Amino acid sequence: MNLIDKIKETARKNQRTIILAEGTEERTVTAAGIISKEGFAKLVLLGKKGEVEAAATKVGTDLSLIRVIDPVESEKFPLYAEELFEMRKKKGITLEDAQKLISGTLYFGAMMIYQGEAQGMVAGAQNTTGDVLRPALQIIKTLPGISSVSGAFVMISPKKEFGDEGILVFADCAVNPNPTVEQLAEIAVVSAQTAKALVGYEPKVAMLSFSTKGSAKHELIDKVTQATELAKQMAPNLVIDGELQADAAIVPKVGSSKAPGSPVAGQANVLVFPDLQAGNIAYKLVQRFGEVEAFGPILQGMGKPVNDLSRGCSVEDIVNTVAITCCQNLS
Ligand code: ACO
Repeated sequence: MNLIDKIKETARKNQRTIILAEGTEERTVTAAGIISKEGFAKLVLLGKKGEVEAAATKVGTDLSLIRVIDPVESEKFPLYAEELFEMRKKKGITLEDAQKLISGTLYFGAMMIYQGEAQGMVAGAQNTTGDVLRPALQIIKTLPGISSVSGAFVMISPKKEFGDEGILVFADCAVNPNPTVEQLAEIAVVSAQTAKALVGYEPKVAMLSFSTKGSAKHELIDKVTQATELAKQMAPNLVIDGELQADAAIVPKVGSSKAPGSPVAGQANVLVFPDLQAGNIAYKLVQRFGEVEAFGPILQGMGKPVNDLSRGCSVEDIVNTVAITCCQNLS
């Protein structure tokens, strides 16, 4: 059984209700039909009923097991708008602003999750990462003890000699443009948790830089070594090392020559990048140039799972992302 089939099996047992906030978007509605047939999640499609139904007819999706909700027509609309107003009035929003926001499916969906009516949301086939993230960050917020949401990718390579049988987790590749030392340490800890929870292996975390164990000196490297020390304090049992260059992290021969005695060098299966430019560029290059499958971004650290799609996503990407969303924050 491959990884995504395993994730779907776990999802099937959980039977979570997941919101697809772009309920009139054709790839999304096609994916909804597939998920409904495969039966690994209960779904809510958000959007104007007539438009959702027209899209479903066009792509041949059977809506009989899927809830369709139009935020503006919903009986919950006034309650949700009021709740958003209460939450955000200190930030200067008026009730009218809140009503406008809640009439949009991304805010309405985030509020449904906050109210416990669904356990997760997937969007991004039409909306930017920022637009998908902002309502979730404002309404659902982070898990207790976590200050920053970050984005991980599960990278699956046919080259089984790397990572854990060819699987590595990369982070942060999606959210924090320039993390602080504290954020970087937290990204390391939650990425290890994501690796364990979703992929099921014992994480070995490499904190990446352009230097290995003092081979170069720069304030950017200091940030990575400080984050490594802080992550060790935050999670004393975590197997983590840094700073390491990418080759020292994943190639055993290079690891043992550049960082002898390291518990991670040469065997890393979680790679933490020093900032978003490095992480985002790295995952896209590895995916395209290295022909590696990339699942994500998997948003980690959010109070309830919300995941963002690429606007270039395929129907299969949406199906897989819903499966992953069903398996996050399980404990
Ligand atoms: N974790 C937790 N909370 C956060 C985070 C975070 N990483 N970032 C922002 N917030 C909170 C803020 O504290 C704020 O809360 P408050 O309003 O209750 O005080 C709220 O979210 C909004 O924050 P802003 O900074 O006002 O929102 P901003 O418009 O900057 O959006 C965002 C935040 C969307 C995460 C922004 O940092 C961003 O756009 N990041 C880059 C995303 C991106 O473009 N990624 C690359 C593409 S993805 C890909 O290729 C896979």
